[in-house]
Amino acid sequence: MSKRDFLSTADLSRRELDDLLELAARIKGKRPGQVLSGKSLGMLFFQPSLRTRVSFETAMVQLGGHCINLSSNDLYELEPQEQAVMDGRAEEHVMDAARTLSRYVDALGVRAAARVGTWEFDRQELLLRSYARYASVPVINLETNMGHPCQALADALTMRENLVSLKGRKLTLLWCNHPEPKSLGPTHSILEVAAMMGMDVTLAHPLGFEVDAEVLERSKTLARDNGGALQVVNDKDTAARGAEVLYARSWGCIKHWDDDEREAMVKRSLQDWKVDEALMAKTKDALLMHPLPVRRNVAATDGVLDGPRSVIYEQAANRTHVQKALLMQLLK
Ligand code: CP
Repeated sequence: MSKRDFLSTADLSRRELDDLLELAARIKGKRPGQVLSGKSLGMLFFQPSLRTRVSFETAMVQLGGHCINLSSNDLYELEPQEQAVMDGRAEEHVMDAARTLSRYVDALGVRAAARVGTWEFDRQELLLRSYARYASVPVINLETNMGHPCQALADALTMRENLVSLKGRKLTLLWCNHPEPKSLGPTHSILEVAAMMGMDVTLAHPLGFEVDAEVLERSKTLARDNGGALQVVNDKDTAARGAEVLYARSWGCIKHWDDDEREAMVKRSLQDWKVDEALMAKTKDALLMHPLPVRRNVAATDGVLDGPRSVIYEQAANRTHVQKALLMQLLK
């Protein structure tokens, strides 16, 4: 039997997305028991994590299984390129690591969101895709520069819990300032999932912070096919008006992807791209969402993050529930 990976929200049909969210909602109310007794999830973190790591560990333990976590310090430097002559720094090929790990664990998670080269290079998700190619067990994307599908599942569950039906509801996905260059993964995944749910999506960012062109086109098609809409605006006040969900997130500049200093320079004039009480007042009493971690009083003020419409901790809490549902489906 062939294995099933979860590398992108594009791996799910609308029906599968609905089923996964239904299952997550069911098991949130009623624990399913030790259905993954004896199963192991290996997680490879090439960047730091708080929520992803702990929520997956909690999910596995509550289902009767367990996790083995490795960070870059525990791993040999890896070579992901096919047919590489390995006379450089890399000590081990991903194919050997993936095939070996598949003998020990029942599923693998990979977080690989470093900036390694140009956008054209990094958008290929070489490390994640190599693990998926060579592992004989399911591989889960724990965030790359292209996607963070587990976060988007938790976001969708959180929106459903608060708005019930998502079709036609107005979501504004707003770029926020941040001193560091950030991955586009969470942005792409929530964009695709909101489009799949038929939401009326406004993507708002300053000029120069466009998302990946292919992801944008796919999201527009998904929105159209599911009775929703997707528009892009470059003005935050216009974007906030009438929003029922304001989803704040920073992401990096694709044009200057391999030049952090240039990106930092561009962002110096964009400090007003922040969610504050005045911006929230323009919305239709919107829920405030952010995948965390958040730079307080840079991306969003304390007042809105701790305000009555903030659901940032519900999003984080729902990571455990959606990931339990995902693990049950991948490992059943
Ligand atoms: N949102 C999220 O993935 O958080 P971590 O980086 O802490 O895992």
